[in-house]
Amino acid sequence: MKIRVFPTAELATVYVAALVESLITREPHPVLGLATGATPVLLYRQLVAFHRQGLSFAHVTTINLDEYVGLAPDHPQSYRRFMEEHLFRHVDIPPTQTHVPNGMAADLAAECARYDALLAAHPIDLQILGIGHNGHIGFNEPEGALKTRTHVVTLTAETLRANARYFPDPGAMPRQAITMGLESILQAKAIILMAFGADKAQIVQAALSGEVSTAVPASFLQMHPNVTFVLDAGACQLLTPPEHWGVSFPLLEQGQFT
Ligand code: F6R
Repeated sequence: MKIRVFPTAELATVYVAALVESLITREPHPVLGLATGATPVLLYRQLVAFHRQGLSFAHVTTINLDEYVGLAPDHPQSYRRFMEEHLFRHVDIPPTQTHVPNGMAADLAAECARYDALLAAHPIDLQILGIGHNGHIGFNEPEGALKTRTHVVTLTAETLRANARYFPDPGAMPRQAITMGLESILQAKAIILMAFGADKAQIVQAALSGEVSTAVPASFLQMHPNVTFVLDAGACQLLTPPEHWGVSFPLLEQGQFT
């Protein structure tokens, strides 16, 4: 487990974007696991900037973590629409190589099975994650038991509260979502979890505490052989940094963020 701390979310994002760029440049058929939410918005902006400077996504496949049940792909709050607006429509990735669960599927169990088959056919090289205030990753909510594969989840009151800000009518927010499961996330060859802001400090501390618990789904990441937590100053403020965390501010003076 690596932890990289940067003074700001912008600088942390440049670091992650450079890692994504290097993967895309290096691999003939890279598969990116992607998240939505506030945390990766800057990352997608930076990747779009890299594209304008010549980085091609034509050979990239993307697989998103989750989608609301009952929202059409073009619904303003759907995660498919989010990805189109923040990344897909601004780069040269063929639409057939972008994957988001279909929240409108008539048979949700069949949709979950389809997504698992997709994941089996396209092992994820690099999974990008955010973290919910309750420790969820994807929409794997804290529960007595966590599901391994793609499944339909009932969103917790805390997640509904956190995401209500995106819905003009919070009452119309879906109560269910389709999400990749914990095992599918942990099967990615490399994982980067980004957490920004002091409001994430407590859950970051819980996720990195050294204990693994279904009460904090992100804590399972500690068991992954190649996971990096990328934090800003706010999100790391409850951590006491031991030497081996490799806490660093390598990009502080380079001003690379565009
Ligand atoms: C979204 C997702 C969620 C978010 C998490 C944090 O695809 O998988 O787990 O990463 O809810 O959301 P933000 O970044 O909005 O704080």
